Amino acid sequence: MKTKRNTKLLLRMFHLFALVSCVSTSEDFNWTKNEKTSFYFGTFPTGFSWGVGSSAYQTEGAWNVDGKGVSIWDVFAHKKGKISSNETGDLSCEGYYKFKDDINLMKDMKLNHYRFSISWPRILPSGSKSEYINEKGIKYYDDLINMLLENRITPVITLYHWDLPQVLQEKYGGWQNISMVNYFNDFANLCFERFGNKVKYWITFNNPWSVAVEGYETGEHAPGLKLRGTGAYKTAHHIIKAHAKVWHTYDMKWRSKQKGLIGISLTADWGEPVDVSNQKDIEAAERYIQFYLGWFAAPVFNGDYPQVMKEYIGRKSGQQGLGASRLPVFLPQEKSYIKGTVDFLGLGHYTTRYVTQKNYPSGLGDSYFADRDLAELVDPRWPDPGSEWLYSVPWGFRRLLNFVKSQYGNPMIYVTENGVSEKMLCTDLCDDWRMQYFKDYINEMLKAIKAGVNVKGYTAWSLLDSFEWDEGFSERFGLYFVDFRNKNKPRYPKASVLYYKRIISSNGFPNQRELESWKRKATETCSSSNQLLAADPLIGHMEMVTEIVIPTVCTLCILLSAVFFLFLLRRCL
Ligand code: NOJ
Repeated sequence: MKTKRNTKLLLRMFHLFALVSCVSTSEDFNWTKNEKTSFYFGTFPTGFSWGVGSSAYQTEGAWNVDGKGVSIWDVFAHKKGKISSNETGDLSCEGYYKFKDDINLMKDMKLNHYRFSISWPRILPSGSKSEYINEKGIKYYDDLINMLLENRITPVITLYHWDLPQVLQEKYGGWQNISMVNYFNDFANLCFERFGNKVKYWITFNNPWSVAVEGYETGEHAPGLKLRGTGAYKTAHHIIKAHAKVWHTYDMKWRSKQKGLIGISLTADWGEPVDVSNQKDIEAAERYIQFYLGWFAAPVFNGDYPQVMKEYIGRKSGQQGLGASRLPVFLPQEKSYIKGTVDFLGLGHYTTRYVTQKNYPSGLGDSYFADRDLAELVDPRWPDPGSEWLYSVPWGFRRLLNFVKSQYGNPMIYVTENGVSEKMLCTDLCDDWRMQYFKDYINEMLKAIKAGVNVKGYTAWSLLDSFEWDEGFSERFGLYFVDFRNKNKPRYPKASVLYYKRIISSNGFPNQRELESWKRKATETCSSSNQLLAADPLIGHMEMVTEIVIPTVCTLCILLSAVFFLFLLRRCL
């Protein structure tokens, strides 16, 4: 009798233990240990996937051709004063027409994958599947996918890279409205139906943080709403639900036939405590990450928002006299529906901040930024060649990857974005700082992999210079320089193309001597390409002669001869 009871007790304890270890997969992240180690020579695991990325609105152009509907970015960019120099993505790189050339560039780089996005309004002009499917749009993506596969480049498709159909914004208020969940699910389902037999990697959302904060809180991005303190949280809530729904649709309806994977791409900076011996700084840095990455990662991995977000936003909402938290709440059944909806985590990363505690008393106006009670700092010695916000801090990448491993049970990670921009007055293809950035960031990723982080692939951002959202064309992230003034939008390789190519062909970093020779060769090549580019205005001029002047002169000649002929005819009669 006693042994039976003991066995029962043991079983129950075992059950409890199993339950606890299942629920909490997260380990403690060591905030105090930030070893800045020297460069690591070595290779990536066999089968590691190398790629480049792009997105529809940033590169396709062809904004109103072949039946494409209007997106919120078309409308936003056409409003005066929203984009630097009032530029738009109307033409951009003309990727819609030049995708074959671009695939040839990828082929030459020997890439394993290409990450691009589908423009929702290009295939569903009004946003809704029940109204009208634009077969020309479907054909474009089908051709693109086919050609990638013919060249053994794996397509990795993002379903939402920010270009919501304008009709859905106007009718419902976009992501402020829960009805987006079903519209997005219908759109995704159509993509699985039409492309899923060939596409095995799907990403539901790209960088939802940006959609929420810049689209609905600060208004710097489309649709340009400034709903401070509430807009971003509501948007994120609906996006998370939409993501989960699409994951379940794929899982239930398509996975067994198509055998693909579906994840989400989250972008986050790293936040390092200003003083690692100060507990308040450590907590502030952790809040920075939780409000950035955890906001989306915690629900999809663990079923709910990070505890610290619930506490801070809840407390501040109370102090502001609100009856409920500005952070929406998931119902218990929603939590279990959302939990575990990632086959892989897409991770976008560019830069790092130092973080310290700073109180934002309530009453100064609520906002996502004030809710975090922290201040961000940068080290003035960090290189910042391009975008104002982008400082090169390679070790931050390793810290972020280790954090993801410890927090979310070492998930499968694909780095979906990483790169650096330049702001240039004159054209220079010798982008030393970009070679340095890729070399050091990729090396820190290699160190993380050696420490057990499960990274399966890396995507350099971006293949081409393209429309950089509210910055227009003033910030160039491309491996290839695009001459936007030339109507043919020619692409020229920067030195970093050759350098990245070498990393790919060696699957890592062989030794110091090799690396130096990569750099030397890349620099030699870019110097001569620079000369070619300098001669380009001449080529552009010659094109104008052949395409405009010659036809015009010919037409005039024909007209004059006709007049002369008529004149002769009248005289003869
Ligand atoms: C993240 C966005 O996903 C991408 O579209 C953008 O170009 C890069 N960041 C650089 O800002």
